[in-house]
Amino acid sequence: MALSVIILAAGKGTRMKSDLPKVLHTLANKPIVEHIIDTVKSIHCDNIHLVYGHGAEQLKSALSAHKLSWCLQAEQLGTGHAVKQAEPFIDDDEDVLILVGDAPLVSAQTLERLVDVKKQCELALLTVNLDDPTGMGRIVREGDNITAIVEHKDASEAQKQITEINTGMMIMSGSDLKRWLGQLSNNNAQSEYYLTDVIAMAAAEGKKVQSAQPVWAREVEGINNRMQLASLERAFQLKQAESLMVEGVRLADPSRIDVRGELIVGRDVSIDINAVFEGKVVLADNVSIGPNCVLKDCEIGDGAQIEAFSHIQESVIGADCQIGPYARLRPGTHLQQAVKIGNFVEVKKTQVGKGSKVNHLSYIGDAHIGEGVNIGAGTITCNYDGVNKFKTEIHDGVFVGSNSSLVAPLVIGEGVTIGAGSTITKSVDSEHLAIARGKQRNISGWQKPSKK
Ligand code: UD1
Ligand code: CA
Repeated sequence: MALSVIILAAGKGTRMKSDLPKVLHTLANKPIVEHIIDTVKSIHCDNIHLVYGHGAEQLKSALSAHKLSWCLQAEQLGTGHAVKQAEPFIDDDEDVLILVGDAPLVSAQTLERLVDVKKQCELALLTVNLDDPTGMGRIVREGDNITAIVEHKDASEAQKQITEINTGMMIMSGSDLKRWLGQLSNNNAQSEYYLTDVIAMAAAEGKKVQSAQPVWAREVEGINNRMQLASLERAFQLKQAESLMVEGVRLADPSRIDVRGELIVGRDVSIDINAVFEGKVVLADNVSIGPNCVLKDCEIGDGAQIEAFSHIQESVIGADCQIGPYARLRPGTHLQQAVKIGNFVEVKKTQVGKGSKVNHLSYIGDAHIGEGVNIGAGTITCNYDGVNKFKTEIHDGVFVGSNSSLVAPLVIGEGVTIGAGSTITKSVDSEHLAIARGKQRNISGWQKPSKK
């Protein structure tokens, strides 16, 4: 049977105290509602209807990568009213899965459980038992059927004792949904059109209403304020840390790693404290990541060691490289095998050949460095004349003395030696020595000035 999903995301999120719509706040660097959209896309689903209200422009630009049917709820008159905005796009003979837009961690497995339960009944609800159900809609049962959801504000003292609550996620047929939506009223404590009233309508028609439970209780937690967002972020990060350890990664402290994207790991990878991974990061076998490193969209080869406080972005690091501490590898850095990049070295849009070293205090940009090259401390590629960028080419076996400026464009031939402190402005043929610095004079009999 066809399946459409309605995501309710029109709430303002007042308690976030933010100009950003609540569902665009991020968890692991991804908007809350986008977590849900991605999960929904991973199960079989034909249409996604997003009910929105506040921040239309911000939402549409943040979610432009997704094919969504946009349903405006201009005034937020309750969850039932929200679902009504998608009604014109719903077919009678499809199933409709309704989700809340502020519970980012709901998993595909949990949604599949709900879809499976619906196969044996007319209305399936995702419910969970909470130690403190305050504020939530309570599940009222008679025998093995669910007969109503009572909102906290409308509940009797006896109903408030019920700990099984409505997560807000449910599935039913399009025809049932449409019929029940037509019967909703706002005659309740909040004067809202409650979606949850459809449960009693179903029961009154003699329909079977059953429940499914989430794989993990925290999946169904909705975010209303920044404490809940932070708490769910930590729970999510810890869960990711645990799956990394299950895969065989050594984590110095599972509570001090953040994966904000996708981290792919080989065998015997070791990650020290406070590492942050963003985008897609691949760590091959035996890679070790030191404390306080940030890696974004990069690949690290077999056995490479990334030492403390290094920052690597959009780069490819070959096997057995040694990076840092305090190295900064910017986009377009491509290091072959066993390259050493030491402390306070910045590299950008540069290829470095096998076994070459840039060990101390350098800026290397728009360069192509061959194999077995040694770049001395404090070397700068002067790649920018204030208007245009130029390339520096350094062939195999070159030795660049410390504190040299290489003014691009330049080609430094194979085996060249550059004397320390040189400002090189012309290309150098292979096997030459190039020195370009002020001549030293030693003057004898020098009298130091004396105090007057
Ligand atoms: C709702 C349920 C409650 C359940 C709880 C779970 C109703 C009447 N109550 O409570 O049983 O325990 O969720 O979190 O359904 N929204 C709109 N338009 C509206 C109102 C809400 O789009 O007019 C969206 C919100 O953006 C949010 C979701 O619906 O994503 C749930 O709304 P919220 O106000 O948080 O739910 P409650 O009314 O507290
Ligand atoms: Ca409400």
